[in-house]
Formats: sequence, structure tokens, C-alpha cells
Amino acid sequence: MLVSGKELFQDAKRRKYAVGAFNINNMEIMQAIVEVAEELNSPVFIQASQGGIKYAGLEYIAGMGKIAAAKAKVPVALNIDHGTDFNQVVRCIRHGFSAVMIDGSKLPFEENVAITRKVVEVAHPNDVSVEAELGKITGVEDDIAVAEHEGLFTDPDEAYAFVQQTNCDALAVAIGTAHGVYRGEPKLDFDRLQAIASKIDTPIVLHGASGVPDDAIRKAVSLGVCKINIDTELRLAFAQAIKQVLNENPDEYDPRKILGPAKEAMKNTVRAKMQLFGSAGKA
Ligand code: 13P
Repeated sequence: MLVSGKELFQDAKRRKYAVGAFNINNMEIMQAIVEVAEELNSPVFIQASQGGIKYAGLEYIAGMGKIAAAKAKVPVALNIDHGTDFNQVVRCIRHGFSAVMIDGSKLPFEENVAITRKVVEVAHPNDVSVEAELGKITGVEDDIAVAEHEGLFTDPDEAYAFVQQTNCDALAVAIGTAHGVYRGEPKLDFDRLQAIASKIDTPIVLHGASGVPDDAIRKAVSLGVCKINIDTELRLAFAQAIKQVLNENPDEYDPRKILGPAKEAMKNTVRAKMQLFGSAGKA
């Protein structure tokens, strides 16, 4: 069933686990995520990035997402990932998204507050949750690139002021994770995460979680992370499975026999993450 992101954030916060948020670009990815959520009785966010919306088109993403959620026996929130354009956020709400992210993290603090408040004003009356971002998460995700040296970790006092002024439902923080494939092992600033979590009641979101070691994820969840975003590990599973099928069967040309194994590979990734995040069995 399609539910507001607010419901997922609040339950995760109350019962101290994190909901996985997986990026969707086509039917197989969407089905892989929702089928495993049902199998494990787990709530889940399915989310469209800017690149995903550009690739598939908002109508297709929204249509598929709503069908997947409606068919599912577990709570599913349909989210826009890293929205930066107010009008696009409004279009997503009109198309039935139940969660939005507005990423004003590149803006000065006051402007980030202003755009987040504006989104909260249209989202909340529609029972749509709002995730905001404070601090800059490094790496490359679709069109969004922040040079690593520009990466700015979230300041706990600013986080407090930000959630007070915006009334957002969740806050994505920069504590050392990055979008994309890591070159070395990521080092997370757990002291900072703890300081942020002690200042705000708002659920915390961890972006760039692909490639972060399991122990670090467990620790982040224990310190108050309630939503964890995964995209790159799904892409890697997808690409690796397709390469293997075509290497082993160079004459194969049936899309179902190429994409089917890719879907199974992504399901294994989703399964492992939901178990790691503690969301399995929580629906
Ligand atoms: P990864 O690139 O680490 O999978 O991060 C995805 C993400 O944070 C989407 O917003």
C-alpha cells in the first residue's frame, strides 16, 4: 500500500531501525525492490532521482510506483530524491508521490530554510513528507556533483536551527558518506552524528550508503539514522548480472532472459540491505 513517508519515518524512529530507500529507473528495479519488501515484510521507500525522472519520464515513474505500491501488502512510500526545483516537487505531489526531498544544501542556510519551508507548506496538507538536506554530501549522483574538497559536514547547532525553522520530517546529513563508488574505505564521523542526533528529534537520513561497511551502517542506525539510500550497489548488481548472462550466452537476445537475472541479482542486494538496516519484519 502507498503510505506517506511520514509514517515510515516515524515508525523507524520509534522502533530504532532504518528504512531502505532504493532508486528506481525501470520496471525490473522497481519490482525487485517491492518483491523483496513483501518477502521480508519490510516497509520501503522507492525513489526517483533527477536522472531517473529524466530517463523514464515523471508519468512512467509515478505510474509504475503507484502500481507497485498499490499491489504491495507492505507500506511503500514513493519519493523524489534530491529535488531542487519547487515546481517539479509540486508536479510530483500532483502525480501522487507520497514523499519528497528538497535539496537546498548548495544554497546559503537562509535560502535552504526558505525553499524547504515553501515545500513543507505544499506537502504537509497533502500528507506528503519532506526530507531536507543540510551540509554537502560529496560524490557524483546523476547531474549533481560536489567536488570532494568542497564537502561540508553538517553542523549540529545548524541542524537544530534548521529543523526548528522548517518543520521538515527528515534531515539528510553529511557525515562522510558520498554518492557513487568509494575509492577507499569511507570514514564516518560518528561523533558528529551522535551530536546531531542529540540535538534533533527529526529522523536522520544517510545518503551515499552503497559501499559503507556493515558495521558502520549498524552503528549509524543505532545512533538514530532512520532512512538509508542505496543506488550504486543496485546498479553494480544489475550491470554485473547482465555482463555474466551475455558472456555465458553471447547469442541471447530475449530481453526477459537478460533482465530477469539482473532483477534476481538486485533482489539479493535489497534483501541483504533490509536485513542489515533492521527493517525486515517491521511492516
Ligand atoms: P549511493 O550512490 O551510495 O548508492 O547513494 C545513493 C543515494 O544516496 C541516493 O540519494
